[in-house]
Parts: sequence; C-alpha cells; structure tokens
Amino acid sequence: EKPALILAIETSCDETSVAIVESGTIIRSNIVSSQVATHQRFGGVVPEVASRKHVESITWIIEEAFEKAGVRPSELSAIAVTEGPGLIGALLVGVVAAKALAYSLDLPLIGVHHIAGHIYANRLVHQLEYPLVSLVVSGGHTELVYVESEGRFRIIGQTRDDAAGEAYDKVARALKLPYPGGPHVDRLAHEAAEALPLPRAWLEPDSYDFSFSGLKSAVLAALNSAAMKGQPLEPQAVAKGFQDSVTDVLVEKSLRAVRAYGAKQLLLAGGVAANRGLRERLAARCAEAEVPLLAPPLGLCTDNAAMIAAAAFLKLERNQFSSLELKAEPMLKL
Ligand code: KG4
Ligand code: ZN
Repeated sequence: EKPALILAIETSCDETSVAIVESGTIIRSNIVSSQVATHQRFGGVVPEVASRKHVESITWIIEEAFEKAGVRPSELSAIAVTEGPGLIGALLVGVVAAKALAYSLDLPLIGVHHIAGHIYANRLVHQLEYPLVSLVVSGGHTELVYVESEGRFRIIGQTRDDAAGEAYDKVARALKLPYPGGPHVDRLAHEAAEALPLPRAWLEPDSYDFSFSGLKSAVLAALNSAAMKGQPLEPQAVAKGFQDSVTDVLVEKSLRAVRAYGAKQLLLAGGVAANRGLRERLAARCAEAEVPLLAPPLGLCTDNAAMIAAAAFLKLERNQFSSLELKAEPMLKL
C-alpha cells in the first residue's frame, strides 16, 4: 500500500502556508510565507490586508509545495485545511482553495482545528503518550488543554482577556519595539540586570485560567509614572519583569495541571513556545518534578501547514472526513 500523502493549507492569520506530509510525520515540504513585513507598519495584523495577501500567494505556494516535495497531485491521499478559529476572511481563502483541490482531484477533505494543529506539531518530532497536558501559547491563544487520548481534547484553562503573545506584542509596543514584539521583549529580558517588580495574576486558587491585561496595564502605568517623574525605566528591566510574571504563572499552572490530571507528558505549543525565558523555566521545573517536557523545534511552533497535516493524519486514519460544505469558522471550538 502506498504511504498517506496529505496536502495541508493554513491561512488562519498572517502566514500563508502549504505543506505536504507523508505518513503523518515525514515533512516533504512546508512552505511558509509570512506577511509580517506588510503588517509591521500598522503595528499589528490588519484582517482585510491579510485576506488579500493570502489570495495573492495561495496558488503559487501550493505549486511550490508540490515542487519542493517532488509529489504529483495524483499521488495525494487527502487535502487538509485549518477551518478555524482565526480571522474569517483569512480562513476563507484556505478553505476555498482546499475545497477546490479536493473537488478537482476527487480527494477527501479534512477540516482541522488550529489548536489541534499546534498541539500535534509535537507529533512531527516526538512520540506522544496519553493522557497529556498541552500549554498552547500564541498571539491569539493561551490555553491549557487536557488530551485524554488521541484527538480527545478538553480545555481546562484559558485566558480571560489577552492572549500571552498579544500581551507581549502590546508591551513591546509600549517599549517602542517593532511588531511582532515577543522576540524583542525576550531578547531584552535576557540582557537585564534586574527585574521591575510586577504583579502575578494567579486568579482563584483552583483556576487554570489566565489573565494578562492587568499585567499589561501595570507595565503601562509604571512606564508613564516614571516618564512623568523624568526618570524613565530601563527597557531591559521592564521586559524582564514582564517576562518573569508571564512565565511564572504559565509554568506553575501547567505543572499543577500535569499533577492534577496525571499527565504523562507536558507539551508546549504555539508561537510563544519560542520564548527562551518560558522554555528555560519550564525545562527547569519539569526536570525538578520529573515531568517529560516536549516542544516542537522553533520553526514548527509558529503557524505552519505541516502541523495541520499532522493533525489531519489522525483524522484520515479514522476516516473522519469533512464534506465539500465545510465552512470557515472564526470561533470554532476545540
Ligand atoms: O502561533 P503564532 O505564530 O501565531 C498565532 O497563532 O497567534 O504566534 C505568534 C505570537 C506573536 O504574538 C509573537 O510576538 C509571539 O508569538 N512570539 C513570542 C516569541 N516569538 C514569537 N513571544 C515571546 N517570546 C518569543 N521569543
Ligand atoms: Zn497559531
């Protein structure tokens, strides 16, 4: 029998990506075209601009994915696509392209949840053991997900306001750093000699939820009051204070969830998983608690289509297909 070859499309935010993945784990191609340069001058993603950019790039990125993989359309087993959550106009471009391919090539279509994709990015490089807990942290999401077995997800905690990456980007903006600011704040934090003392949002003692908007406001207030006194704060100290506060809460709640749910592994996923401060602290705490910690390589943490193919493969094995009526769902539930 010939190996399963899935072509996957991801267009939920500002990355246009197409990948071809063999047998769920072998990345034959994973083309990611970032729109960061386009959105940078606006200080964030402009949804309408994102949709138009996806329309301009999707066709040649599909062609490039075939070429790089050395795969012919007739060899494919299925077409997968992120159906949600995300920006409606952005998602639509991917969904329409995927349906057109599935229809014209007479292939099954598989709709994938974006967060399932982030979690299963780990499956491209690691052996997963269930039950597990995954901390998903990105520009649009901050969630603790309990994965009881393959494909069975339960959100046990999530942000009540800003996503972690969103908070990073807002603090970066206040520090006059370019968009997306996460990596810049991370870098400054590592240069800091001391940290600005800032609060931690633990919420109710038993809660796995997060909140970052109060922290962001505390940063802005500290910056303003220091500027008014004519004694501006050192950006490095602000970055480190902020990063310590965010990582403290993310790490402690993740470890508490691992213990409470008897998880065999802790999976890190999403763009903020690239954060050095978070990785270092998680690694240290997991080693101490003897919890196996898995994270994808940096290139598979941020949005990409290979992770969508990885999640789709599990659905292909179970014949869980979508119809050609598949719709883009901006608020899709996990
Ligand atoms: O997963 P992703 O590419 O897109 C979403 O699905 O949102 O995540 C992008 C987010 C941005 O907010 C970016 O600032 C953040 O991830 N990010 C980081 C780092 N690298 C990327 N945040 C903190 N530290 C980093 N090193
Ligand atoms: Zn994402």
